[in-house]
Amino acid sequence: MRIFLIGFMGAGKSALGQGLAAELGFKFIDLDKEIEKHFGKDITSIFATEGEDVFRDAESQKLAEAIEEHDDFVMATGGGTPCFGDNMQQMNESGTTIYLKMSTDHLVQRLEPESDTRPLLDGKKGHELWTLVHELLQEREPDYLKAHYKVKAWDLKPADLAEFLRLYEVVPSDEEE
Ligand code: S3P
Repeated sequence: MRIFLIGFMGAGKSALGQGLAAELGFKFIDLDKEIEKHFGKDITSIFATEGEDVFRDAESQKLAEAIEEHDDFVMATGGGTPCFGDNMQQMNESGTTIYLKMSTDHLVQRLEPESDTRPLLDGKKGHELWTLVHELLQEREPDYLKAHYKVKAWDLKPADLAEFLRLYEVVPSDEEE
């Protein structure tokens, strides 16, 4: 099965994704890392030199490739992945999508120390950062809410997410049932 973790920057998609993949014995794919490998540079440089449109095309292409090449994985998507092209439809049709929902306050708490290294946050701090996150989240949430499952991400542990999936989806288990 293919599991896609979606949600805003800072919601914990990569850390939870890695842990969840380990819990389930699945391959872990970090979509941002796949794009970085493709261009041979980090996300900040890709935005600066190629621009966002080129980044978004590569994002859709790498997503499609992963779906084409692998049947089982946990993927941490980028914060914008569900909001461009038909990415959300591709994910919903080829696997299980989980929205890691987090409040603006908690997102800002996590993002403030690293707002310099995230192109869309433009180094903003304090109230300016809060407003930007709040507005972008409002704009994007309709897409995030198309996910099959919406879970509260604050304090969520990979084992909790694995347990949730074992309850609601047929996932690989150590014991034959
Ligand atoms: C983006 C989020 C980033 C990365 C890029 C754009 C976004 O991923 O894909 O900087 O549009 O929200 P993370 O959500 O993993 O930080």
